[in-house]
Amino acid sequence: MCGIVGYVGRGSSRAFVMSGLEHLEYRGYDSAGFACIESASGKLLFAKAVGSLHSLVRKLDGSSIDGSVGVGHTRWATHGAATELNAHPHFSADKTISVVHNGIIENYGVLKQRLIQQGYSFSSETDTEVIAHLFDEVMQRMSGLEQVVQAVVEQLQGAFACVVLLERYPDYLVAIRRRSPLCIGLSSGQQFVASDAAAFAEHTRDVLFMPDSSYALVERAGVRLFSFAGLPLDYVPMRVDAQWLRSTKEGFEHFMLKEIYEQKRVLQETVAFCSTLSQDAWKQTGFSAEVVHDLRELFFVACGTSAHAAQIAAFFFEQIDQIRVSVELASEFRHRALFGFDHSVFVFLSQSGETADTLESLRAVHEAGLRTFSLVNVPQSTMARESDGHLLTQAKREVSVASTKSFTSQVALLYWLAFRIAYEKGLVPQDALAECQQDLLVLAEVFEEVMERYDSFIAHDWAPRYAAYEKFIFLGRQISYPLAREAALKLKEIAYCFVDCYQAGELKHGPIALVEPRVPVFLFSVLDEGVYRKLIGSAQEVKAREGRLVIFAFEGQDELIALADDVFIIPHVKPLLGPLAMTGIMQLCTYHIARVLGHSIDKPRNLAKSVTVE
Ligand code: G6P
Repeated sequence: MCGIVGYVGRGSSRAFVMSGLEHLEYRGYDSAGFACIESASGKLLFAKAVGSLHSLVRKLDGSSIDGSVGVGHTRWATHGAATELNAHPHFSADKTISVVHNGIIENYGVLKQRLIQQGYSFSSETDTEVIAHLFDEVMQRMSGLEQVVQAVVEQLQGAFACVVLLERYPDYLVAIRRRSPLCIGLSSGQQFVASDAAAFAEHTRDVLFMPDSSYALVERAGVRLFSFAGLPLDYVPMRVDAQWLRSTKEGFEHFMLKEIYEQKRVLQETVAFCSTLSQDAWKQTGFSAEVVHDLRELFFVACGTSAHAAQIAAFFFEQIDQIRVSVELASEFRHRALFGFDHSVFVFLSQSGETADTLESLRAVHEAGLRTFSLVNVPQSTMARESDGHLLTQAKREVSVASTKSFTSQVALLYWLAFRIAYEKGLVPQDALAECQQDLLVLAEVFEEVMERYDSFIAHDWAPRYAAYEKFIFLGRQISYPLAREAALKLKEIAYCFVDCYQAGELKHGPIALVEPRVPVFLFSVLDEGVYRKLIGSAQEVKAREGRLVIFAFEGQDELIALADDVFIIPHVKPLLGPLAMTGIMQLCTYHIARVLGHSIDKPRNLAKSVTVE
C-alpha cells in the first residue's frame, strides 16, 4: 500500500527511483511524485502527477529535475482524494523538507491542530503533511540529525514507513519504520530504500529489513541504524533470492492470466516442497509432537483471498484431524478478547506476509503469550520473521493484484499440513502422506486439463455473454461455499460487478426474492453425495423462477448438469480437493469477463496488492 523508493549515491537518483517505482506500482497507483536534492544548488526539487506512474514520467520528460539523493512515491489514497496536492512528497512551508509516507499517522488530527495553532498552514488533506511540519518545528529548536529524528518520531502514533529529504542535510535519506515495511538495499557507494526489495533488485540483493520502531540515516557510504530510543543497532543484511524480486509476463497479455496458468506448476512444486520437509525441518514449524497431541482448536486468521483459502482448509482439519477450526477475518479478530486458548494454535495466512490487519493480529496473539504460526508466500516478509514457526507457500512472486496462484498454493499446502498433523497425532499411517501428495499431483493434471478444455469457449463465447450482466448470485454449499465466495471476490475485484454470495441452503430464506432472468446464478457443486443432492434442490428452486444457471459440476452429476444454462464439467479428484479442481476455470471466467469489459486487470481500481494499513 503506497510504494516508496529512495536512492543516495553518485548517479542520477531520478533514473533509479523511477525504475524502482515501476516495480512497486502494485502497491498503489492513484498518483505519484518524485523529489531530490539537486547536486549543484543543494535545493530540493520535485514533481507530482495524478494517475499512474506514466503521468509522472510524462511530466518529468524534458525537465532537468535530478540529483544524487532522491525519493519517489506511488500512492494508494487513505486521507484525501487522489489529487496533485494530496500526492506525495509533502513539504514544509519553505519547501526545504520533503516526506513520502506509507501508513497512517493515527494522531495526525491532534498534531495538525497544534501545528495550526503554532502558525503552520496545511496545503493537503493528508496525514503525511504533519510529518514535514513537525520536522520543521523540531529543527527550529534543535540541531543534530539524530536528535531531530528522535524528537519527531516520539510524537507520531500509528503505523508508518517514511523517507525524509532535508535541504539542511543534503547527503542523507532519513528512513523511518514503525509497523509498515521498509527495507534498505546495501551496495558499495550507493544505497537504496524501498517498501519492497523488488524496487532495487537489479542493483543489489543485500537487504537490511528495518526492524520495527527504528530509523536509519542513509548516506552514500553506508547506513546507520537506530532504535526510536536513539540506541545504535547492529544489523546483518539478508541476501534475497533473485527469483523473488522480478517477474515478467512471458508473452501473456496480463500477469493474472500468466499466474492462472502457472498453477499446475505451483501444485507440483508444493508437493516437491512437502517431500523435502525432513523431520528436522518439520520441527522448526513449531508443530512438535507435544503441541499436536495437545491441540484442540485451530484458529486461522487472514484477509481476503487468504481467508477463503482458510475456510476451505477448515474442512481438511475437521475431517482429517478431528480438530475444531475457526476462521477469523483479521480486521475483526483485532477486536476480540484473547483468553482461554490453552489448547489452541493460531495460524496466520497471508500471501504478502505484510497485510497490516493480519500482522497486527499476529502481534496481539504473540503479546498474549500464545504460539504463532504463519503460512506466507514471501520468505523475507515481516510475518515470516515474527512468527514462532512458519511454512512457505510455493506460489513464487505474484504480481497481479487479484490473487490466483497464491490461493491455490495455500489450499494445497494446508491439505498436506492436515495429513502431516494427522500423522503426528497417530491418526493416519506414514503412507497417507505419500497418498496425499499423489492426490495433489492428480489434481495438478486435472487443474490444467479443464482450463485447456474451456479457455477458448470462455474467452470467445461465454464471457462476452455474461459480461452483459451487472448483478450475480453465487451459491455454494459445505466446502464449495468458500470457493463461491472467492469467485465472487474475484468478479468484484477485477470486473467491478455486484455479486451476492450465499450458502445454497440459505437461498430459500430470503435471497430467492432476487432471482430473475437478469441476475445469473452461479452454482458450485461438491463431491459429497448428500450435499450434491441438496444442491440439486437449490438449482431447481432457481429454475422454477426462470433464473439463469451457470453450474460448475463434476463428471457424472447429470441431474444437476441437466438444469444448467451453461455448465463446466470437471473430472473427479479427491472430494476435499473438489474446490481446487474448479478454481482454474472459475478464475478464467472472471478474468475474461473483466477483459471483455476492458478493465485494468492487473491493477484494478481502488485496490492494492499489499494492504499495509489497518
Ligand atoms: C488485499 C488484496 C487481496 C488479498 C488481501 C490479503 O486486500 O487486494 O487480493 O487477498 O489483501 O492479502 P495477503 O497478502 O495477506 O494474503
